[in-house]
Amino acid sequence: MPLTVLDHALGAHLLTRLRDETTQPEAFRPITRALTQILAVEATRALPIETITIKTPLEETPGTRLADSLAVVPILRAGLGMLEPVIQILPDCAIGYVGLERDETTAVATSYYCKLPTLKGKTVLLLDPMLATGGSAAWAVERLYREGAEQVILLCIVAAPEGVAHLHANFPQLQIVTAALDRELNSKKYIMPGLGDFGDRLFGTF
Ligand code: PRP
Ligand code: URA
Repeated sequence: MPLTVLDHALGAHLLTRLRDETTQPEAFRPITRALTQILAVEATRALPIETITIKTPLEETPGTRLADSLAVVPILRAGLGMLEPVIQILPDCAIGYVGLERDETTAVATSYYCKLPTLKGKTVLLLDPMLATGGSAAWAVERLYREGAEQVILLCIVAAPEGVAHLHANFPQLQIVTAALDRELNSKKYIMPGLGDFGDRLFGTF
């Protein structure tokens, strides 16, 4: 399974701002948007393209367009912070939502909402800033493939080795693009060093 860890000076700078416990929601939100846009550029680097002919104001010239139709699916609630910057650069995409919440004691995710567009043959960018145990992402990826998605690319901000291994074992074709691969999960299944609870820091629900 391809795993890409972002290697980008501005990306590293923005991630450090997110990790910093003094960064408040009003700054956390725009920094999330900026970092997500860098991740989205990286995640779309090798998408299939096709050659077309267009006319500039001066003459005909060959050009390029993305060959596959795309869908973007944030995992609620924290993935919502990553939606706007992705559709800003990919306006011509379908949008779906998956609502998942981890139990505070067991860290097992259960679904409370799912609304998806037609995914048959589409490339799906799945948005979830935190990949911890991998339970939430696995639920979503399984559902996206079941709905006919051709390819799924998971964009996350911080991933734990445990979550990557879990997804790798279950979905060998899945691509993961993350801004960081952290050390480990702690006893409460939080990512270390991580950045805490992303949804709480994004929405100010402390
Ligand atoms: C967080 C995060 C991921 C999930 C990752 O969501 O946004 O969706 O945990 O953990 P996992 O890999 O162990 O499943 P949370 O359940 O806290 O819900 P929220 O986004 O509504 O805050
Ligand atoms: N969800 C988060 O928001 N943070 C973690 O570290 C793990 C799961």
